[in-house]
Amino acid sequence: MFANYRTVFLPIFVSHIIKNKKMNLSGNTILITGGTSGIGLAFAEEFLKAGSKVIITGRRVDRLEAIKSRLSQIVTKVSDVADAAQRIELAEWISKNHPDTNILVNNAGVQLITDFNRGIDLERIGSEIETNLTAPIHLTSLFVPHLKGKKDAAIINVTSGLAFVPIAMMAVYCATKAAMHSLTLSLRYQLKETGIAVYEIIPPSVDTELGHDRRDDKSQSHGGIPIAEFIEGAMAALKNDEYEAAIGMSTGLRAKREEVFEQLNSRFAG
Ligand SMILES: NC(=O)c1ccc[n+]([C@@H]2O[C@H](COP(=O)([O-])OP(=O)(O)OC[C@H]3O[C@@H](n4cnc5c(N)ncnc54)[C@H](OP(=O)(O)O)[C@@H]3O)[C@@H](O)[C@H]2O)c1
Repeated sequence: MFANYRTVFLPIFVSHIIKNKKMNLSGNTILITGGTSGIGLAFAEEFLKAGSKVIITGRRVDRLEAIKSRLSQIVTKVSDVADAAQRIELAEWISKNHPDTNILVNNAGVQLITDFNRGIDLERIGSEIETNLTAPIHLTSLFVPHLKGKKDAAIINVTSGLAFVPIAMMAVYCATKAAMHSLTLSLRYQLKETGIAVYEIIPPSVDTELGHDRRDDKSQSHGGIPIAEFIEGAMAALKNDEYEAAIGMSTGLRAKREEVFEQLNSRFAG
């Protein structure tokens, strides 16, 4: 009887305690992978404004330098998440230079086209999976020991509404995001006694540089919502401790996945 009570009610009680603990947006030290543009940069600016210290990474040195000259308080680090040795070096560098880091944001990502009718380029697919899935898994494993015991520790994974309803022409991208959604559930479960809160931010289509490399006109929008609208929703969700926060249209993608699949893909049919 007592065992049953513990099994059934204790998890509910624990999740209730965690739910009532609101994320403090100030006073953190936050590492954001892929902060040179789009969602990562928007998170960086918002957390800085809220009074947190922010460290961003990326491959583009010129971008990092330009951001640093505009936002002098930001810390920048050149780092390629698709390279395992650089991930290890990043974790060591953080431990040594910014030991107060209490939040990891797994944000860096790329979005490629995969067409099984034409054949795939295994190297490109490999780098997409490495960037979007292997890197956050590896970085998380490197940072969990560091985050344990830190006040207000958290891991924030940026997935996608496409984790729930794929756009078929971005098959591998969507599969990496579905995997990251699943992974986030397991991670949250595994870390529930550690004091490390695990969040998933599920963006809808947001107008960023994502997919720019396959567009001739780089100024062309992919039709997503403005970044300002997205980040307002995402920061409100974090502040309200929504552990799985679907923003905008992603809410519908998650709720009505089968129904939306045909509808969405007919829009993208080549
Ligand atoms: N925009 C959308 O519609 C949308 C929707 C759902 C989810 N998301 C997700 O949101 C996240 C951010 O994307 P975004 O929309 O902001 O696109 P973005 O503007 O293209 O930004 C992507 C960021 O990732 C970084 N990055 C890519 N590969 C990297 C690597 N190997 N090492 C380090 N950094 C790397 C880029 O920096 P460098 O190029 O300087 O390395 C850049 O800062 C991604 O995970 C994406 O899947 C976006």
